[in-house]
Amino acid sequence: MAIEVRRAAAEDWPEMRRLRLLALATDRTAFGRTLEEERAFADQVWIDRARASAASREVATWVAEDDARRMVGMLGAHVAGDGAELFGTWVDPSARGAGLGGRLLDAVLAWIAGVAPAAAVKLWVNPELAAAVRLYESRGFARTGRSAPIEHTAGVCSDEMVLAPRR
Ligand SMILES: CC(C)(COP(=O)(O)OP(=O)(O)OC[C@H]1O[C@@H](n2cnc3c(N)ncnc32)[C@H](O)[C@@H]1OP(=O)(O)O)[C@@H](O)C(=O)NCCC(=O)NCCS
Repeated sequence: MAIEVRRAAAEDWPEMRRLRLLALATDRTAFGRTLEEERAFADQVWIDRARASAASREVATWVAEDDARRMVGMLGAHVAGDGAELFGTWVDPSARGAGLGGRLLDAVLAWIAGVAPAAAVKLWVNPELAAAVRLYESRGFARTGRSAPIEHTAGVCSDEMVLAPRR
């Protein structure tokens, strides 16, 4: 099945909501927010997120979509000044292991390089999620040594990783 990777558009908000809630339900310890929190969001929150993400130079979400226009992956980034931060990395379990995470990450890094070429790119990852750590390391991210607890689940932490800008 052919999968397209593209920047999300404003009208994608219902499918982005479906995918994000599925991500939170499936991989609870991968994210700082919970399913309970985001399921309570009004439609307007999702509409605003998608609209901002589609047209901004400060935030963008990239999505992976199958032939039937069903989203199977997403990855977002915020850019502020000389820094960028990734968020929401997720691929549907049925589509994992085929390079989609890498394609999404490459697309987002290319976008960051265009809007903020000098930006260092940060992210936070639960070190127990081996595939995610491997994905980031494969693109040059390295742990900074900073770690912080994930507030919603006792005993689980997140490690900071950074990719230095290519000058
Ligand atoms: C992390 C995730 C997005 C990767 O998606 P994917 O489409 O399977 O990614 P890819 O196929 O591009 O594989 C990425 C790398 O992980 C490796 N990998 C895959 N499964 C792995 C596993 N169980 N253990 C270790 N490495 C693994 C792959 O070999 C690949 O590395 P390589 O390029 O050196 O071969 C996906 O597993 C996921 O959604 N996980 C749950 C959510 C999550 O952890 N999000 C991160 C939040 S910070």
